[in-house]
Amino acid sequence: MFDVQNLGSGYGDVQILSDLSFEVGNEILAVLGANGAGKTTLLSTLAKVVPVREGSIAWQGQDVSATPAYELSKRGIAYVPQEGNVFPNLSVAENLSLGALVGTRSKQERLDEVYALFPRLAERKDQTAGSLSGGEGQMLAVGRALMQDPQLLLLDEPSAGLSPLYVDILFENIAQARKSRNISIILAEQNAKKTLEIADRVLVLSLGRMHLLEPAKGLSMKRLMKAYHI
Ligand SMILES: Nc1ncnc2c1ncn2[C@@H]1O[C@H](COP(=O)(O)OP(=O)(O)O)[C@@H](O)[C@H]1O
Ligand SMILES: [Mg+2]
Repeated sequence: MFDVQNLGSGYGDVQILSDLSFEVGNEILAVLGANGAGKTTLLSTLAKVVPVREGSIAWQGQDVSATPAYELSKRGIAYVPQEGNVFPNLSVAENLSLGALVGTRSKQERLDEVYALFPRLAERKDQTAGSLSGGEGQMLAVGRALMQDPQLLLLDEPSAGLSPLYVDILFENIAQARKSRNISIILAEQNAKKTLEIADRVLVLSLGRMHLLEPAKGLSMKRLMKAYHI
């Protein structure tokens, strides 16, 4: 479905990612790794915000290595960046509506689904996004991405800065969205323990290279942490 081969990327003269190869099917693939490991660089390269330098990315059988970001969103890939993922001066409803610019189903139908998944957003639909709590803001960012009716969702550290209670709620929502919509999700996270609870497979990055790729079930924290520190 989504096929990454020998991917490399970076910024200016600095190479950050090297030789990453993996496929993503109908699953939650967690991308774990310490701060600075390259998770954000990977997701932004997959979303084409950072250009592909080496290797290739194929989506639904077609090479998209040189396809621009806006074209990818039309083709069913939604990206939620780690920061700056909502428009603070627009209302919750307006932020969500922006997601409906791609896709074909009626906006109202999609809004109803997102509000059903995140009742807190429904309660706050006329509030500005900037007035939401951190957790609500992340729900809004994920909700807006879901408004695009994506088949692949790229989520960059949605739990960053959230209290444990919010992390639980948000992860439950993400797992539920995946099941009900039957989509693929690539979830970059630092919060390994929580992520293992909802991930199907785990990819560990360290210094921009892949150090582990295996099913989440049965993966011990010991083995996981060893991959972090290579
Ligand atoms: N815009 C940038 N320009 C130069 N280097 C960057 C930029 N963004 C990130 N980096 C560097 O890339 C490396 C990986 O960062 P990042 O992808 O943000 O990691 P993570 O998301 O895992 O914390 C770090 O060494 C970081 O300093
Ligand atoms: Mg990051």
